[in-house]
Amino acid sequence: MAVENLASNSMANISWLHGLLWWRNWGKRDWAISAIGFAVFVFALAFVSYSWNSDPDSNLSSTFHRITATDLVDLTLLHNATRRGAVCLDGSLPGYHFQRGFGSGANSWVLYIEGGGWCNTIESCFWRKEIHLGSSKHMGHRVHFTGILSPHQTQNPEFFNWNRVKVQYCDGASLAGHPDNELRNGARLFFRGQLIWEALMDKFFSLGLSEAKQALLAGCSAGGLAALIHCDEFRGLLPKNVTVKCLADAGFFLDEKDVIENPTMRYFFHDVFILHGLRKSLHKDCIARKEPAECLFPKEIIKNIATPVFLLHSAYDFWQIQNILIPEGSDPYHYWQKCRLDIHNCNATQVEILQGYRRSLLKALKEFQKNKEGGMFISSCFIHCQAWMTETWHAPTSPRINNKVR
Ligand SMILES: *[C@@H]1O[C@H](CO)[C@@H](O)[C@H](O)[C@H]1NC(C)=O
Ligand SMILES: *[C@@H]1O[C@H](CO)[C@@H](O)[C@H](O)[C@H]1NC(C)=O
Ligand SMILES: *[C@@H]1O[C@H](CO)[C@@H](O)[C@H](O)[C@H]1NC(C)=O
Repeated sequence: MAVENLASNSMANISWLHGLLWWRNWGKRDWAISAIGFAVFVFALAFVSYSWNSDPDSNLSSTFHRITATDLVDLTLLHNATRRGAVCLDGSLPGYHFQRGFGSGANSWVLYIEGGGWCNTIESCFWRKEIHLGSSKHMGHRVHFTGILSPHQTQNPEFFNWNRVKVQYCDGASLAGHPDNELRNGARLFFRGQLIWEALMDKFFSLGLSEAKQALLAGCSAGGLAALIHCDEFRGLLPKNVTVKCLADAGFFLDEKDVIENPTMRYFFHDVFILHGLRKSLHKDCIARKEPAECLFPKEIIKNIATPVFLLHSAYDFWQIQNILIPEGSDPYHYWQKCRLDIHNCNATQVEILQGYRRSLLKALKEFQKNKEGGMFISSCFIHCQAWMTETWHAPTSPRINNKVR
């Protein structure tokens, strides 16, 4: 397999550890792009196949390390939310998990928004009423705080003692929907993502976010997209002397055509945009210039973000390979079936197409690389979301660029 060095030396010289230290190196940009092909590291999770509605944040991490009592954090429902109409798709209360910071982290906050795709039709949103992605009636009462949320210094050296929040995702549109279209759907679905976001912020302010000295808004997948959409808004809620940054983990969705040249993802985002009334949550300059669905893609969103952003991503993100590049519907004869589930099974032609996808990603990031306050860590793993799991966040086997050992 050809090894293409699209990253400059300075980019490749920055290690995974530096990626984590980005938080400390305030104002200094860090780029880390793996220049190696994808044979480097295929994570065990890669063998679990996800669909549009899959939840990358299941309890899988429990199989990798022992859970202790402090890792388990109870669900809190936002009881004040109904008054302002901030409810999940089914009308139930939204929820979050919170662990208070301590010691030097007492005035630092990290918010991590759960992922779980989007729903683009009444049917698919309706279906979510039966699972945690659309109803708190189905949310886990306790979740394991691992990776970036872990309370253990050894597993999470930068954030272990910060105030840590996991936001449960239950609106189906990256916390950005508006109720404008609700009446038209007639199916008793609530599109209240933006209201949920606002109610959550009020709550966290009352819990101490108002006293924060530094805050990181992060999220995985659709939650990573939510972190980008709300990044500047979050920044604006906090005083100017507070350090605020945003982190999108596997949230850089590409506006690419699939293997049969259909703009599957663009169509999908278009439907999400219309159904959930996303217009008001997206940047008006973009809406004025572009096809609205384009404005939901991170490539456009980051152009308008003034707050420092860090992208944690894989060039061979398996969710994107399975849903943007090779959606099941675009492979009716299953030519790609084995390859899309495990890249070890791809033949030379297919590998070349995956490399093309990687090139598209790097091209989409070209503009962002000029951003002096931004940073990124682009690995070559067949993976989706790397911050929430100990194994990919901070472990001896975690992805590394330039093979630097901790
Ligand atoms: C929630 O409602 C209670 C009772 O009305 C009020 O005291 C409290 O301040 C509210 N909390 C938030 C975060 O709005
Ligand atoms: C920011 O400024 C305010 C008002 O001067 C002050 O009370 C607060 O402690 C400062 N916060 C930080 C993080 O420096
Ligand atoms: C790889 O597989 C695809 C789909 O089965 C096929 O069309 C293509 O010819 C194969 N390429 C090689 C080099 O075997």
